[in-house]
Amino acid sequence: MNISLLLNQPSAEDLTLLLTELSPLQYASLNCKLDKFVVHKIAKIMPVGAIAVEVGTYLGATASIMAHANENLEIHAFDLFDDGIYAKNQDTLIEQSLGKGQPRSLENVSKFVSKYKNIHLHKVVKNETVVFKQEIDFLIEDSSHRYPQLSDSMNNWLPKIKINGIVMLHDYRPYLPIDSPQRFLDVENYVDFLSNHTDWKFLGGFGDFAIFQRTHRQD
Ligand SMILES: C[S@@+](CC[C@H](N)C(=O)[O-])C[C@H]1O[C@@H](n2cnc3c(N)ncnc32)[C@H](O)[C@@H]1O
Repeated sequence: MNISLLLNQPSAEDLTLLLTELSPLQYASLNCKLDKFVVHKIAKIMPVGAIAVEVGTYLGATASIMAHANENLEIHAFDLFDDGIYAKNQDTLIEQSLGKGQPRSLENVSKFVSKYKNIHLHKVVKNETVVFKQEIDFLIEDSSHRYPQLSDSMNNWLPKIKINGIVMLHDYRPYLPIDSPQRFLDVENYVDFLSNHTDWKFLGGFGDFAIFQRTHRQD
């Protein structure tokens, strides 16, 4: 699969599909339209039985985009499911998605994404390493965007990624002014680090994702 080609040259048909094929739960994702498009496109080309992991799933809307794009993709989505503030419009978004006065709990988010049987939600504990035994094809890291959580998470997940597997780091915005609060310098530093690693090819920034593909594996 040539992911760069897929993302750099979307056809007119691709753009129509973007409007018609995305999961109806996509409204609850904190990501921009282009991010949703990229996630949908990559999830769709994953082979039968492939495994995707999302670290930082919030309301499960990006996981739903993947599940909607590809019912044969096994998706594991991890989150603290806490009451932290992650969006300006959080109260409205949570009320719309989970119901009035409902907390963003694992149980409520499970109900919200229940139409997608291929989504498996997992609650994590801050600073505890997630144990996951299978190899994976597709990883999205979209949690704290800061060290040490970011590097700890990557140290845990990257060794599990198969050759040709895809890794996407969210909130990669090197195009903004350096003092913008929307810039996460730890994400940029990690992208620089991985770009210089022989096992990984940096495919570029698409939307607010930095995308890598595994080329080698030094096990
Ligand atoms: C920016 S939001 C994710 C947005 C989501 N991917 C979407 O598409 O809407 C960040 C999420 O990361 C979660 N989070 C923060 N620290 C985490 C950690 N150590 N492990 C897993 N999730 C974490 C938060 O609970 C929050 O839901």
